[in-house]
Amino acid sequence: MSRFLLAVGFSLCLLTVVSAETASGGSLTECALKCKLQFLKGCSAAAFVSGTQKCLLADTTNADFPGGVAVRKQAASTQDPVQIEGRTFKIIQHRSKGVLSFGRGWTEYEDGFGDETDFWIGLRKIHQLTGSSPKLLRVEAVTWSDELYVCEYSGFTVADASTNYTMTYTSYLSSSSNTTSDSLADNKGRQFSTIDRDNDQ
Ligand SMILES: *[C@@H]1O[C@H](CO)[C@@H](O)[C@H](O)[C@H]1NC(C)=O
Ligand SMILES: *[C@@H]1O[C@H](CO)[C@@H](O)[C@H](O)[C@H]1NC(C)=O
Repeated sequence: MSRFLLAVGFSLCLLTVVSAETASGGSLTECALKCKLQFLKGCSAAAFVSGTQKCLLADTTNADFPGGVAVRKQAASTQDPVQIEGRTFKIIQHRSKGVLSFGRGWTEYEDGFGDETDFWIGLRKIHQLTGSSPKLLRVEAVTWSDELYVCEYSGFTVADASTNYTMTYTSYLSSSSNTTSDSLADNKGRQFSTIDRDNDQ
């Protein structure tokens, strides 16, 4: 039961945004355990930041998006491409208000749902963006105290419907990330799953 996700970049890049809570921690193992203990609060993904000795716990209450769920506090309109450090990104998932439910079925994940600020653009579109030309994926986590954490992945690609939108990527780019762990690793090479279609047990 897992879903990859987030926000993605245009031409060159893809972008994802994660809402996260921080807790102190000493290792990825410890962070993963904290996440497990907070499962009922909805924690489904953890990352460890060695510089600050902190755990990032993604608070995804309705859906399970290892690697992050987009909750961006900045109320920007994000269906449009955004510029980050001189690169143009297309956002594939964005959550800013925390009201829209991401606990949806297969058809909605294929088609996309949401509005201008909180949305998932849809698997079909993500496949169109990344299927034949893999993109850079950027995941942004904004904590409740407004710190931004970033992870980037090269070669992110989502195959078509006949593979149930299998996702893969080339590598976790540690030099442009300030988390130390690859929180998408568990989903690499997996099919997409939703509450009504678990394709990756
Ligand atoms: C993480 O990296 C981003 C992008 O370089 C930077 O804006 C942000 O401040 C960094 N976060 C922390 C907590 O250092
Ligand atoms: C895709 O998912 C469906 C429903 O879960 C399953 O029946 C089918 O075998 C899967 N396709 C592939 C290529 O694994």
